[in-house]
Amino acid sequence: MGTFDHTRVIAIANHKGGVGKTTTVVNLADAFGRSGLKVLVVDMDPQANASLHIGKMHPSRVDLSCAQLLLAAGVDKLPQAVHEDTYLENVSLIYGSLALGRVEEELKDQTPRPSEELRTKLETADGIYDVILIDCPPSLKLLTSNAMAAATHIIVPVESGSQYGLYGAEDLLKHIEKIKRINPTLALLGALLVRHDERQTVCKLLEVTARETFGKILPVRISTSTKVNQAAVMQSSLHKLDRSAKVSREYRELADGLIATLGLKPAPAEEEVENG
Ligand SMILES: Nc1ncnc2c1ncn2[C@@H]1O[C@H](COP(=O)(O)OP(=O)(O)O)[C@@H](O)[C@H]1O
Ligand SMILES: [Mg+2]
Repeated sequence: MGTFDHTRVIAIANHKGGVGKTTTVVNLADAFGRSGLKVLVVDMDPQANASLHIGKMHPSRVDLSCAQLLLAAGVDKLPQAVHEDTYLENVSLIYGSLALGRVEEELKDQTPRPSEELRTKLETADGIYDVILIDCPPSLKLLTSNAMAAATHIIVPVESGSQYGLYGAEDLLKHIEKIKRINPTLALLGALLVRHDERQTVCKLLEVTARETFGKILPVRISTSTKVNQAAVMQSSLHKLDRSAKVSREYRELADGLIATLGLKPAPAEEEVENG
C-alpha cells in the first residue's frame, strides 16, 4: 500500500510563474468542495497567493503555517496547522507565508530526507480529506520537491497563449522523474492549457507541442478571462462571481472530469455511518 490509501493528493506545479497554478488550485478546490468532497489546500508558495485568496486571516498573523509545519520535529502538528474557516465551502487551508522562503535552507541542514517532510506531515491526514491540493511556488527547489514527493498526482498548468509557454518543460519533466525515485507511484495527470484560445495559431501550435512533450493534456482547456483577476481581488471563486461565465464552466468541467478519473466520492455523512 502507498503512503496515501484514501486521499488523492494533487500537486499543481510549474516552475514558471504566472501560468495559472494558484487560480487552478482555488477553483478546483471550490468545485470539489461544492460537490461535497472534503478538501484541504496546502499553500507552499512564500508569496501565499492562495492563502490571500481563500483565507480569512492575513498569512503573517498565522501562528502555525506551512513553514512551521515543515520544520516541526514531530508529526502531530497537522491539526493545528489546518484552518477550517475559509471563504470556500468544505475547503480547509494550511497557510503559506514569507517564512517558507527560509525553509529550504533549514530543511537541507536539519533533516535527513529534506524532500519528504511534507509527505511525513500530511500522511496523518490520509482518509480525513477526500482530496488535498498543493499550490507550488515558481521554482524547482525543495518546496516543489516536497510537494511532488507528497503527491499522488500532478497537474502542470501551461500558458497556452505564449510562444514560450513550454520553455523549461523538459526540466520540469526531469524533476518529476527524479522525484519518482522516492515516490514511484506519482502520476502525471497532464498539462493544463491555460489562457487557451483555439482560434489563435500560437495556441494551436502550443497544444500540439504540449501533447508531445508531456504525453498527455487534460481534456478541458481554460480560456482567458478578466473574471479570473476579479475573483481573486474579491476573494471569491469564479463560480461564485459568475457561474455562467465560460471560464467558470471550464473549471467545473475540469473538476468533474477529475472526480471521475480519480474515483473521488464524498465520504458519507457521519449520521449515515452510525445508522448503517
Ligand atoms: N485564465 C486566465 N485568464 C486571465 N487571467 C488569468 C487566467 N489565469 C490566471 N490569470 C491571471 O494571471 C496571473 C497569474 O495567475 P496565477 O494563478 O497566480 O499563476 P501562478 O500561481 O502560476 O503564478 C494572475 O493575475 C491571474 O489573475
Ligand atoms: Mg501562484
